[in-house]
Amino acid sequence: MTDKELLLKAVEAREFAYTPYSNHKVGAALLGKSGKIYLGCNVENAAYTPTNCAERTAVFKAVSEGEREFSAIAVVGGLGDTLSELCAPCGVCRQVLNEFCDGSLKVILGTPEKITVTTLAELLPYSFGKTDLKKQ
Ligand code: THU
Repeated sequence: MTDKELLLKAVEAREFAYTPYSNHKVGAALLGKSGKIYLGCNVENAAYTPTNCAERTAVFKAVSEGEREFSAIAVVGGLGDTLSELCAPCGVCRQVLNEFCDGSLKVILGTPEKITVTTLAELLPYSFGKTDLKKQ
């Protein structure tokens, strides 16, 4: 699976974004270590706060189906039919990814024409995670 192939899966996932309030449509494709890909889109809500981001939709789908280890996630987003040059995961999604992935998780962003590859460590430096809760 190339970076571009995973990003194209995120573009597919974005088709289902439910965004009557923001029209900002996001798609995510999460690659499990099993090789399975979990797609997610954002799902908005009239009460706003129950809105779920695309990345979290993908993570929760995967975890609820028994997969907890991941090697990469691709995320695309933008208003309406247009893709932004870069749509990076929000802080909450970074923290949710940090629960199941280490800093080496590959994060593939951008558009099929201009791909940016980064890592969770770069997106979430000095992170707080489950190892911080263990007795020293
Ligand atoms: N959104 C995502 O799906 N992922 C992010 O990481 C940032 C924001 C969604 C939530 C909401 O539906 C819309 O984009 C505008 O914030």
